Amino acid sequence: MPGLERMLYASRATGRTDSLLNMATILGESQRNNDRDGLTGALGAHDGRFIQVIEGPTTVLDGLLRRLAGDPRHRDIVILDRRPITQRQFAGWSMVSSRLGPETATALDRLMATPETSALEIIALLRETLEVEPARAA
Ligand SMILES: Cc1cc2nc3c(=O)[nH]c(=O)nc-3n(C[C@H](O)[C@H](O)[C@H](O)COP(=O)(O)O)c2cc1C
Repeated sequence: MPGLERMLYASRATGRTDSLLNMATILGESQRNNDRDGLTGALGAHDGRFIQVIEGPTTVLDGLLRRLAGDPRHRDIVILDRRPITQRQFAGWSMVSSRLGPETATALDRLMATPETSALEIIALLRETLEVEPARAA
C-alpha cells in the first residue's frame, strides 16, 4: 500500500469566500477529482482565507499541490503541516466543507496566530465543524 500523508495549508482567496457559488464550484471540482484520485479532506474559508486539510498518497498530494499553486482563485499558499499518517480522519469525504461560524472563527483566529504549532488543533476544528448530516449522532 502506498504511503499516506496528510497536509494542512492556508492560502489567501482572490475572490469572495462568502459566495456560495464560488465555494460550491471549488467543492464540486475537488470532489470529482478527489474521488478519482483517492484523496479525502475538508475545506474551510474564513476572513478571506482558505484552510484545507487533504489526505492521500504522497505522489497524488504532490500532483494536487502543483495544480493548487497554479490556481488563480487563491495565492500565498503556506503549508502548515505535512506528515505521514496510518489512518484517514476524513475517510468517506472526497472534500467536505467546514462551516467556520462566528464561534469557531475566534478559536481559529487564535490558532492561526501560531499555525505551525497548532496544526493538529486546526485539523480538529475543521473536523468538528463539518457540514454533513451527523450520522453518528443518535
Ligand atoms: C481553495 C481551493 C481548494 C481546492 N481543492 C482541490 C482539491 O481538493 N482537489 C482538486 O482536485 N482540486 C482542488 N482545487 C482546484 C485545483 O486548484 C484545480 O483547479 C483543479 O484540480 C483542476 O482540475 P481539472 O484538471 O479537472 O480542471 C482547489 C482550488 C482551490 C482554490
